[in-house]
Amino acid sequence: MFTRRTLIRSAGATALGAIGAIGAPAILRAQSWFRDTPFSLGVASGDPAPDGFVIWTKLAPEPYEQHGGMPMSTLPVAWEVSSDDRFATIVARGEALARPELGHSIHVDVSGLEPDRPYWYRFQIGSERSLYGRARTLLRPGTAASSLKFGVCGCQNFESGYYTAYRHLAREDLAFVFHYGDFMYEYSPNYLFEQNLPVTKPREHRLREVFSLDDYRAHYAQHLLDLDLQAARSRHAFLSTFDDHEIENNWVQDISQRRDVPAEVFALRRQAAMQAWYEHMPVRAAMFPRNGLIAVNRRLTYGNLMAMNLLDTRSFRSDQPCDDGFKPFCPGVADPKAAVLGQAQEAWLDASLGRKDATWTCLAQQIMMMPLDRRTRDDQPEKILNIDSWASYDAPRTRLMSRLGKIDNVVALTGDEHQNFAGLLYDKDKPVAAEFVSTSISSGGDGQDVRAGSDKILANNAQLKFVNDQRGYTVCEVTPEAWKTHFMVMDKVSVPGGAISRRATATVPRGQASLTIA
Ligand SMILES: [Fe+2]
Repeated sequence: MFTRRTLIRSAGATALGAIGAIGAPAILRAQSWFRDTPFSLGVASGDPAPDGFVIWTKLAPEPYEQHGGMPMSTLPVAWEVSSDDRFATIVARGEALARPELGHSIHVDVSGLEPDRPYWYRFQIGSERSLYGRARTLLRPGTAASSLKFGVCGCQNFESGYYTAYRHLAREDLAFVFHYGDFMYEYSPNYLFEQNLPVTKPREHRLREVFSLDDYRAHYAQHLLDLDLQAARSRHAFLSTFDDHEIENNWVQDISQRRDVPAEVFALRRQAAMQAWYEHMPVRAAMFPRNGLIAVNRRLTYGNLMAMNLLDTRSFRSDQPCDDGFKPFCPGVADPKAAVLGQAQEAWLDASLGRKDATWTCLAQQIMMMPLDRRTRDDQPEKILNIDSWASYDAPRTRLMSRLGKIDNVVALTGDEHQNFAGLLYDKDKPVAAEFVSTSISSGGDGQDVRAGSDKILANNAQLKFVNDQRGYTVCEVTPEAWKTHFMVMDKVSVPGGAISRRATATVPRGQASLTIA
């Protein structure tokens, strides 16, 4: 077996084209160039379109070593896409360069495929071949569609529990998965709490907190070595966005939540984090980070059935008013200049909402839109807001609700809360959309059906129809007649092998912003 050093010595003297070729001669394929599989972090696909998707991998034979155990040289990696899972009919193949500058990650934009069907893909370097992944193409815009099923997930604190929900998600029959962010958490507390008492973490980060590009890379590696996560990423195309913890808790724009960190210093951390995010996500070249920013807002259509708008609620947002937290109203909440999406993204969304090319319009984003009263006890005299949500940004929220009031059949999909919520969004007194907040894969630990105090939140907020505090994901089942969101919950995440079950289904009928829960 060749070690990394052997590879470094030999790479310069070898015909590099031959290293990556999937049809390489038998003698080459009999050798391994690496100490261990370079595909340790798995494979993934993302950003599906009617004619293709992105396929991803990242070479890391020794994931916790410098550069993942890769030599500091650019290496070609062969890839191929097949119309069957035995790779009997190859419909696309090529070679991509794995560059040390990008941590030897590979993003291939595959096109020229047929719409609305599954494909299989894999990678090879030297004699090492990856496991295969699967991805579906989308229905062409305008095509009549009778149904669409997709998954929604996010908030996967590695230390809070196992990723068994991902294994269950991998087994679902889905067109794609929307990931609302918190793919990782950048810090590590000493212990977790259950019912206000400290408990041992089910598993631990290797790093206490991540700051540099190398830190973030090692942190992603630890997460991606989890085979439940790899299973889901290899089975479904992901629509990836980020929330706060891919960078730092509750950051917005160039503002750290740690008030002593100057903007220019925080910008360096954000730049490292954004590069690491790009390197590990199956996203298109359009999302290449530039000056620490990623243009993550984009639009996806599925036939004439759904148009999904993926939003970025962090990068262009004005600072949280009231110094953040769960707090009563402060004057900053009503600041007419406050922003959540920022001007350019708001104009882009406005144009997208005006296109009227699908029955259902979806906003796929991070932070809760319902301005809920969060009081959980009787001794709280004033309404409490989640300041790090749309609730504390009156002006942009009012503008958006008024805009949504002009179109029919709108559904907002949200993450961040680590609980399931279903409710209605209002423009003044008129319901204009349904909002489904998906729980977390693991963040928050096992949980319970209803968190202490949530009965009070339900009682105080007529727009809210359903609350649940277990881990899991949601599955959206969309037809021309109705939008159904299934809340899939885990019995336990503190131990491996937990079971999943459907806790509830929320239904929105076409033509009416209303909700029934069953
Ligand atoms: Fe989270």
